[in-house]
Amino acid sequence: MNGMTAEIVSVDPERPDPAIIERAARLLRAGGLVAFPTETVYGLGAIATDAAAVARIFAAKGRPAHNPIIVHLADRDPPLAIAAEWSERARALADVFWPGPLTLIVPRGPSIPDNVTAGGPTVAVRMPAHPVALALVRGAGQPLAAPSANRSSRVSPTTARHVARSLGDAVDLILDGGPASGGIESTVLDLTSVPAHVLRPGLVSANDLARFTEVTPNSSVPPRQTTFRSPGMLERHYAPTVPTELTDAAAHARVAKLAMEGIRVGLLRFSSELGLPPGCRAIEMPPEASRYAARLYAALHELEEADVDLILIERPPAGAQWLAIHDRLARATCPRDLRSGE
Ligand code: TXA
Ligand code: MG
Repeated sequence: MNGMTAEIVSVDPERPDPAIIERAARLLRAGGLVAFPTETVYGLGAIATDAAAVARIFAAKGRPAHNPIIVHLADRDPPLAIAAEWSERARALADVFWPGPLTLIVPRGPSIPDNVTAGGPTVAVRMPAHPVALALVRGAGQPLAAPSANRSSRVSPTTARHVARSLGDAVDLILDGGPASGGIESTVLDLTSVPAHVLRPGLVSANDLARFTEVTPNSSVPPRQTTFRSPGMLERHYAPTVPTELTDAAAHARVAKLAMEGIRVGLLRFSSELGLPPGCRAIEMPPEASRYAARLYAALHELEEADVDLILIERPPAGAQWLAIHDRLARATCPRDLRSGE
């Protein structure tokens, strides 16, 4: 964590003040980094065609160079300089799901620098649904490369404060549009294969996609295919700084036992009926998947800040609508010795 924090400017999430957007866009055009809200999580933006600015993103996040970045567009038709090929399939999916939390992997265009794609032949593009994100891309006059605005491998930010806490003064300006409503990252769909492949499950489900194109869910992706196929996917990601474990029922008995040993536990649970031992913290999580997603990262940030020794997360139910959440929980609880070293 950095000592100093960036300037945070409040902006109306529905009708962003053009003067504020122009100030942020000017910073971007000068090669700066601006964090901004999207409908999924906060992004850390730089002009996508500016290799030096993109390099600053990698430095600010401590992101490994082999992990490519999503390019954010302000409309459904990327120019050929960005996406060298825009197939019927891409067009059809963009028509249905954009603006929104779906990222499409397509052949890269000549204006995309190597560091955006990690040297690979493809580029990830998405048109975000958040008015601030769209206004910022339009104001910048170029698509914006923007990963989630957190230190690499940490929990993604859903508020401006999370961004400031994670990135400190490594970002030039943070646009605060309130909490990100979706709460987890976009679905990443690889369109370079038939059928298309879900590389990262997200707010758009494989079932939603399957109504419009042939798609295989990400469970069928073999581990460590190639570096470029799904670079960031199999690594420890979205992980709190505190040891974090999933737990089945009877979490309370375990918390009580740990408390007796002097271990302060933070618990994400579905019911608040049972009391907690002193020193332990609990957050009640919503029983619906979409509300759970919207709450998850903020809850993990809260427990990190509460300085607990261990985070326990009650395992959510099975079911298609929980898939993206199970994916994020698996990453958050991946044992430390399996960390990628990010
Ligand atoms: O919701 C989101 O997608 C957020 C907001 C800010 O848009 N962004 C986000 O970016 O989550 P990031 O960098 O945290 O995650 C991007 C994911 C990574 O897993 C990365 O490996 C993958 O997309 N990715 C990016 N470009 C790719 C490419 N050319 N081929 C395959 N995977 C790619
Ligand atoms: Mg990320």
